[in-house]
Amino acid sequence: MSDALLEVSDLRVTFPARGRELRAVDGVSYSVYAGQTLAIVGESGSGKTVSCRALMGLLPPTAAVAGSALLRGSELIGLSDDEMRRHRGTDIAMVFQDPARSLNPTMRVGAQITEAIRAHHNAGRAEAREQAVELLRLVHMPVPRRRFTEYPHQLSGGMRQRVMIAIALACRPRLLIADEATTALDVTTQAQIMELLLELQDELGMALMLISHDLGLAASYADEVIVMYAGRIVEQAPAPRLFARVRMPYTEALFEAIPRLERPAHSPLPVIGGRPPDMADLPAGCSFAPRCRGAMDDCRATAPPLAEHEPGHRWACWHPVNGGTDAAAR
Ligand SMILES: Nc1ncnc2c1ncn2[C@@H]1O[C@H](COP(=O)(O)OP(=O)(O)O)[C@@H](O)[C@H]1O
Ligand code: SF4
Ligand SMILES: [Mg+2]
Repeated sequence: MSDALLEVSDLRVTFPARGRELRAVDGVSYSVYAGQTLAIVGESGSGKTVSCRALMGLLPPTAAVAGSALLRGSELIGLSDDEMRRHRGTDIAMVFQDPARSLNPTMRVGAQITEAIRAHHNAGRAEAREQAVELLRLVHMPVPRRRFTEYPHQLSGGMRQRVMIAIALACRPRLLIADEATTALDVTTQAQIMELLLELQDELGMALMLISHDLGLAASYADEVIVMYAGRIVEQAPAPRLFARVRMPYTEALFEAIPRLERPAHSPLPVIGGRPPDMADLPAGCSFAPRCRGAMDDCRATAPPLAEHEPGHRWACWHPVNGGTDAAAR
C-alpha cells in the first residue's frame, strides 16, 4: 500500500549514556494508514515513547534522531521547532499517561481548551469558547458547561483524560497518538476512554496509535500490532493474525503475562522471566536471547533481521514458535 498517512523508515534515536551510546530506538520502520488503529506494545523501556516523541519533535536536545518519518509525504525528522509546531496539533496530536501533569493546575479547564483552539485558529474568544464546549461534548464530558469553569483537581482521572483528549482534538489531527493514555486509570474508566477514542476515530476519520505495555489492550482494540523489544520491532501483524499464530517468543511471553479472569485469586501474576536488557549495553546477537526459552547458539551469535516471512506478518527470530524452524530466513 502506498497511501500511508505516516511512513516511518529506519528511525533511530540515541542518547549519550555513561560514555557510551544508548540506542533507545534502533532502526524502526512502519506505516500508519488513514482510519487505522495501530498498537505499539512492549515492556517499559523498549523505546515506545521515545519513538513517538521523535515524530512530534518532543525529545530533549541530548537526543540524536536519524531516519525518516513522512507525514502525507512531508518529512518530520529534522524540522525546526517552528516548522514542527505547524504540524503538531493540526496533523499529529498526542495524549499522555498522566493528565494531571499535562494540565495546568492553576487554570480553569475551559480556558486551557480555548487556548489550544486559539493557538491554531484565529478564532475570537467567544467563538473559541463555543468550540471548547463543543469539544467537551464530543468527549462525552458530563455537564460540559459546568466543567468549563472548574480546575483540573476538581475532576476525576477519567474526566481529566477526557479534557486532554479534547485538547488533542482541538485542531482535528489526522493522527492521534495515545501513549499509555489509560494506564493510570481504573479498569472501568480505562474501557470507557478506549471506547471514546475508537468512537472519535470513527467520527473524525483519524488514525490512532495506541502505545501500551499491555498486549491485552492492543488485542482488544487495535487493527495492527507492532511489538517492540530493546528499541527494535520484533514482530508485526494484523491483530487477529498475531493472536491466532504468534511467532516471536517474546510476543508469546507477553501473551502469557496477560492477566486472565479465570486465574485463581491470589495466584501470582505471571511475568516474563529475567530483566529487560541494559539499552546502553545490549548483548551481541538477539537481544532477547538471555531471557528466551528457545535460545540457541546461533541466536547469541547473530541478531535475526526483521523480515516479512508471511504476507503481512513480520518477525525477527531464528527459531519462531508455532511453526517449526525458519531456516529460509537465513
Ligand atoms: N531523555 C532521555 N535521556 C536518556 N535516555 C532516555 C531518555 N528518555 C528515554 N531514555 C531511555 O530510552 C529507552 C526507551 O525509553 P522509552 O521510549 O521511554 O520506553 P517505553 O516508552 O517503551 O517505556 C530507555 O532505556 C530509557 O531509559
Ligand atoms: S532469535 Fe533465538 S533468542 Fe531470539 S527470540 Fe528467536 S529463538 Fe529466542
Ligand atoms: Mg513510555
